Amino acid sequence: MSLKFSNKSAIITGAGKGIGFEIAHQLVRSGANVMLNDIDPELAKSATEKLSLEGPGTCVALAGDAGDVAFIQQMIAQTIAYFGRVDLVVANASYTLFGDFFAFTEENFQKVVDLNLKGPFFIAQQAAIQMRKQGNGGRILLMSSTIGLRAYPQLAVYSMTKAALHMMARSLVLDLSRHGITVNAIAPGATITERTLLEDPAYENKWKQLIPDSKTAFPCDIAKATLFLLSEDASHITGQTIVVDGGWTAVGPYPNAANLSKTES
Ligand SMILES: NC(=O)c1ccc[n+]([C@@H]2O[C@H](COP(=O)([O-])OP(=O)(O)OC[C@H]3O[C@@H](n4cnc5c(N)ncnc54)[C@H](O)[C@@H]3O)[C@@H](O)[C@H]2O)c1
Repeated sequence: MSLKFSNKSAIITGAGKGIGFEIAHQLVRSGANVMLNDIDPELAKSATEKLSLEGPGTCVALAGDAGDVAFIQQMIAQTIAYFGRVDLVVANASYTLFGDFFAFTEENFQKVVDLNLKGPFFIAQQAAIQMRKQGNGGRILLMSSTIGLRAYPQLAVYSMTKAALHMMARSLVLDLSRHGITVNAIAPGATITERTLLEDPAYENKWKQLIPDSKTAFPCDIAKATLFLLSEDASHITGQTIVVDGGWTAVGPYPNAANLSKTES
């Protein structure tokens, strides 16, 4: 793999496992220095230890809540302290909370919005302030979902926050383009991660029957698209949402499609 990201400094939230971990992995292998965040300190530490063995980039763990603005400011400051600058940000951490619309609580609504929407907004803001100061551009990547494009049972609030990221990317073009900073979203489809396998051990098989290219994604599929958008090759792409879903949003059916229109009394 070429060292496309030598001397670049990246922050990735929620990167202890799953898609975020794989993005960190590919960035470190491509020469970037990565501030790896996760709310779980043990996970952040073990993920960082694994990546530090890989190189050639370096990796530092920073445990904390990516939905908390004070912590976000600390993440930016720590990244500058370790690596001297901030070039790339991937707002990946998110809360996938299933729940019945009629029973969804204010407390749960707030938790989802804090991590999925407030976190990405303020990490984009705080990173962009630093990138503007550095004066040579930057890349901001918001991790969305196909569920921000298609309604899905029990995921209204998650879905709303993901749809909002698409508009965040478009809106911030106005503020960031003149500073050479691009801002895009990626909308992965069904992807095999520890979490999705825990939710449903038959996840891979179920989804590959519904996805037009007959493949359930792996984190590396999402990470490759992410690295492209973070690279110099994508310098003229901004304000976009790139869907990585094997065609599901175009024509794919839902799991248990027959039950979708049933309403409960
Ligand atoms: N897996 C999929 O099928 C899929 C599909 C579409 C979109 N996505 C999106 O991709 C991203 C990653 O999904 P995933 O399934 O790989 O990850 P995940 O949901 O398993 O979470 C990854 C990590 O985030 C950490 N985390 C949780 N709360 C946090 C917080 N407050 N602050 C910092 N870290 C926190 C967890 O400890 C975990 O290690 C999310 O934004 C998700 O919405 C995933």
